[in-house]
Amino acid sequence: MIRIFDNADLTSRNSFHVCQRATRLIEFEKPEELTEIFERHIIGDWMALGGGNNILFTRDADMTLIAPRNLTTEIVSEDEHQVRVRVGAGVEWDDFVEWCVERDLWGVENLSLIPGKVGAAPVQNIGAYGREAKDVIRRVEFFRADERTFDMLSVEECEFGYRESIFKHALKDKVVIVSVEFVLCKQPLPDLHYGDVAREVEQRGGASLRNIRDAICAIRRSKLPDTAVTGNAGSFFKNPIVGRDVAERLLAAHPDMPHYPAADPSCIKLAAGWLIDRAGMKGYTEGHVGVHPRQALVLINTGGADGGEVLALARKVQRKVREQFGIDIDTEVNIL
Ligand code: EPU
Repeated sequence: MIRIFDNADLTSRNSFHVCQRATRLIEFEKPEELTEIFERHIIGDWMALGGGNNILFTRDADMTLIAPRNLTTEIVSEDEHQVRVRVGAGVEWDDFVEWCVERDLWGVENLSLIPGKVGAAPVQNIGAYGREAKDVIRRVEFFRADERTFDMLSVEECEFGYRESIFKHALKDKVVIVSVEFVLCKQPLPDLHYGDVAREVEQRGGASLRNIRDAICAIRRSKLPDTAVTGNAGSFFKNPIVGRDVAERLLAAHPDMPHYPAADPSCIKLAAGWLIDRAGMKGYTEGHVGVHPRQALVLINTGGADGGEVLALARKVQRKVREQFGIDIDTEVNIL
């Protein structure tokens, strides 16, 4: 079913809870409906909107937003080792994680409690606690708006990187993702190497799927604000990837600075949260916005903020980090 909302209120459709409107918002349940939507219902430009968890509206969206509501989860094939599952773009990501854990399928448990829809997962290649969506994605299926055709890309073709994919670049605003196919494992594949995960899992009695999911949920709840209560979009910034020479210069001055290998061996990934924290901005508030007191990567709407206020704070945080460390941190959140 196609549902059309004109002059749509976006307050409950973006996790920052900023009060903006869209000229038109269209929900669809079946991928085939996209043909009719693009033939007849688009006003002006258009953009796909998942759960609104990775977007900051700084103005009204003078365009049509397209929101997938297809909620199917189907097993495509299965053998003694693996299960392939096709999941509709409109499914809540964490509902999919729970679905896997209930069926003893390994692969997405470390990505528990990440807010957002399945269709958004490949766009920024969501990741947490040592795992990324690309580790389990097999292919991504989408509608090409110009050609009015359905198409798909294999995981190799999606150009996945740290919070990166082809959907943020060559295919940006050209396709609507309709479903994602995942490969999940029947054999245990615990990955407990990140931070406090091993300790939290041990406290729960060992590396079962359920214990890992519970441990990750507990860690996230202890550090990250609940979007249902406090407007935020998770990490507002990406961890910066810098040349080894830059990292070595900073490490000489700050030997305790967290740093990680990057996909490119000539580079090092730094922790933006640590840089913001050390720049003195953790817990900083002004007006209706602030930097989260337990995770400096997260900007929060403390109540009644508009998008412009959040953006002004983001620019201030970026400036402080640049002044203190000479490093530019990019936003992870899309700014409209
Ligand atoms: N740190 C601080 N102060 C802070 C935040 C972090 O000193 O305010 C330090 C930590 O002590 C640690 C290091 O920075 O040594 C890294 O912190 P953490 O393990 O919390 O991870 P992160 O790099 O800050 C990334 C993801 C999160 C994900 C966590 C766990 C990005 C941009 N963020 O954060 O993803 O949950 O790892 O895997 O890569 C999200 O994308 O919305 C998100 C929350």
